[in-house]
Amino acid sequence: MWRPPQRIRFEPARGRIPTIEEAARSRLFSPLAVGNVSLRQRTWVPAMVPWRATDDGFVTAEVIDWYARFAVGRPGAIVVEATGIRDVPSGPLLRIGHDRFVPGLQRLTAAVDEASGGHTKLFIQLIDFLAIRRRPERSKFLQQHLRITDLHRRALGDCNLGDGEVRTRLTTLDDSELARILSPQELQSLRFGHRERVTDMEIPHIRDLPAVVPPLFADAALRAKAAGFDGVELHFAHAYTMASFLSRTNTREDGYGGVREQRVRLPLEVLAAVRARVGPDYVVGCRYLADECIDGGSTLDDAMFFGVAFARANMDFISTSRGGKFDDAKQPNIGAAAYPYTGPSGYECMPQYISDERGPFGRNREPTAQIRRAIREAGFDTTLICSGGVHNFEMAEGLLADGTCDVVGAARQSLADPDWFLKISHGEGSAVRTCSYNNYCEALDQKHKPVTCQLWDREKLDVPGATLAEDGKRRLTAPPWQPSGDARPGVFAQTAKQPGSDP
Ligand SMILES: Cc1cc2nc3c(=O)[nH]c(=O)nc-3n(C[C@H](O)[C@H](O)[C@H](O)COP(=O)(O)O)c2cc1C
Ligand code: SF4
Repeated sequence: MWRPPQRIRFEPARGRIPTIEEAARSRLFSPLAVGNVSLRQRTWVPAMVPWRATDDGFVTAEVIDWYARFAVGRPGAIVVEATGIRDVPSGPLLRIGHDRFVPGLQRLTAAVDEASGGHTKLFIQLIDFLAIRRRPERSKFLQQHLRITDLHRRALGDCNLGDGEVRTRLTTLDDSELARILSPQELQSLRFGHRERVTDMEIPHIRDLPAVVPPLFADAALRAKAAGFDGVELHFAHAYTMASFLSRTNTREDGYGGVREQRVRLPLEVLAAVRARVGPDYVVGCRYLADECIDGGSTLDDAMFFGVAFARANMDFISTSRGGKFDDAKQPNIGAAAYPYTGPSGYECMPQYISDERGPFGRNREPTAQIRRAIREAGFDTTLICSGGVHNFEMAEGLLADGTCDVVGAARQSLADPDWFLKISHGEGSAVRTCSYNNYCEALDQKHKPVTCQLWDREKLDVPGATLAEDGKRRLTAPPWQPSGDARPGVFAQTAKQPGSDP
């Protein structure tokens, strides 16, 4: 992963630990209505892909264990990982693009409800993404993948060359000569692997995205409702289809690109389609970028405009993130695909403990505060969720006290210790396992390996019911915790391990 050159080390701290009474009086542990549902507290576990679905996208026992374990900590809400809305193979990514996925998802919602004692609301993040290929070998790319055109013939100075002859000549060129002949996009495909973009208007299925995508989201949202989720989070963030429409890099000329009013058009049409399908009372929110953090990308100014547009269109909640783009991703090895969290914008999304002067904690705080302010000034009370480096009560309470947000998201801290809210509310904040922000979990995510936390990987491997990764060295869920003062029974009930149990 890219890291800021300053290489300044930051140490996460427990902060001041509140008493039970102080926690009970706090903003963090106070309820809040989000659309038609009521959160019991303003704590939120944002979406995190744990790579536990089957290869064809079904819920497994490990998926259920993963979310049930978060639910034991009783956060106000959990957002289930980015879940694919199309009925196409996407590896072990959870899917919701067909009714056959609903029974597994139903088991998931039931498990979370049971594990949290009905305390935690469960949302699911709905994602659409475009195709991306692995970085090819140079010779294979030139001999097979590259589509030969007259532009290549002209650049080689012989318009009568056959395709095979063009390929042979290109193969003999050195890299700088090749860079002169290939288009920027072709060069990008050679160096990084081919990636579809929303601006590839010559490709029919890309041109047709504005017609195709809204009903896909709407159908997926209806399935989420049928499966018992409390609402959906539309994934408008990071490197995926909807974020690419919002991006300043979207130059489409069909009314869905260019100025920001047109860039936000498809996301709003998706929202309208979803709303029409699930009805006015179902919770529909989105996650989008407060800043794309790339050269020529959308900025906070755009994000404030989008936030107000979403609020005006009755989005129930808005969860901000930042960065996470392909545009500045690291070149992958040959045979591997580019990963959008490997460049500077990826760092902004999941900053780690080695940082710059700004540090890894709260980089999205001020941008989120400004988006919320713009939304409030426009007269809307949409719920704002801010995440990024939050790991203790003091920070979380501070975000609510200063009006940055209405709900506090904590992804890696909740992964490190799913009971951290519970521990604080029990006055046992000193028992919190604080995330070290080393991004071990994120490295596993990058390799599409089952995500675990380095802090609990090797703890209590031999306790009854502990489920382990295939190597037998890593726990697949966090170790159990029992409050010392409160004898609440069965705080951690693990489901039986049934690999590949679905469907
Ligand atoms: C393993 C892992 C998987 C993630 N998967 C998603 C995802 O599916 N959707 C999403 O919007 N963000 C995803 N994120 C980003 C987090 O939701 C969050 O925005 C980010 O980690 C910063 O918050 P934090 O500092 O509280 O961890 C993921 C993060 C991690 C560590
Ligand atoms: S592996 Fe654990 S400690 Fe490290 S960043 Fe991830 S959640 Fe935090």
